[in-house]
Amino acid sequence: MRQQIVAGNWKMNLNLQEGIDLCKTIIALTSDATRKVIISAPYIHLASLVTLCKGTNVKVAAQNCHHEISGAFTGEISPAMLADLGLEYVILGHSERRAFNAETNSLLAKKLDAALSQNLKVIYCFGETLEERKANSHLDLVTQQITEGLFHLEADTIKNIVLAYEPVWAIGTGETATSFQAQEMHTHIRKVMTAKYGSEIAENCSILYGGSCKPTNAKELFSQTDVDGGLIGGASLKATDFVSIIKA
Ligand code: 13P
Repeated sequence: MRQQIVAGNWKMNLNLQEGIDLCKTIIALTSDATRKVIISAPYIHLASLVTLCKGTNVKVAAQNCHHEISGAFTGEISPAMLADLGLEYVILGHSERRAFNAETNSLLAKKLDAALSQNLKVIYCFGETLEERKANSHLDLVTQQITEGLFHLEADTIKNIVLAYEPVWAIGTGETATSFQAQEMHTHIRKVMTAKYGSEIAENCSILYGGSCKPTNAKELFSQTDVDGGLIGGASLKATDFVSIIKA
């Protein structure tokens, strides 16, 4: 059985105290959750959150890391530093980093290697823009993002990867993919994974949906056979909304 996961991506929001307060509420309200809960916070909050989450159901993730382990890279954070903090996860390939920081599939492939070498688990994000969907190239585009970012990895490392399909047109727009669109893409992703790694590995790989996921649509999205949970932006900043998505 593959793992059901709900991860919150705080992006560049919340000061430290707000983050601590939100994290404490999430911990308190999700001790009985059946889904795995992850919160992904700005770098400078991570040490405090790791301490808070120790021994709880809630895991902490970073939103990015560098592709080298150490060196002269002013302003960057290495995956070794994240692992040293006790972090379990790092998000890589978020569309905002692809768009605003020019992160390419080949750079992301290097970041994946660096993160995995430090025993971090990776939430690898990808998804098409509205133009790509309108041009009906979304399935091919996602295939390419997976192939170029991931397919250099050996089969036995795929257990440390969570996939996150986030259509760019649905992120922060209030427009969600329909459950049909989500299921269609997730089926495609699992097929692509099956072709490369075989059905057992593909069946065990969690594929999350992200993009305007809310308490009102989470249940419908998560009830799709190949949607194994969600990566939540805006709604993860409000404890009641995030918890209701976790329990949807
Ligand atoms: P929203 O839930 O705000 O659309 O953001 C999704 C996302 O980008 C999560 O990584």
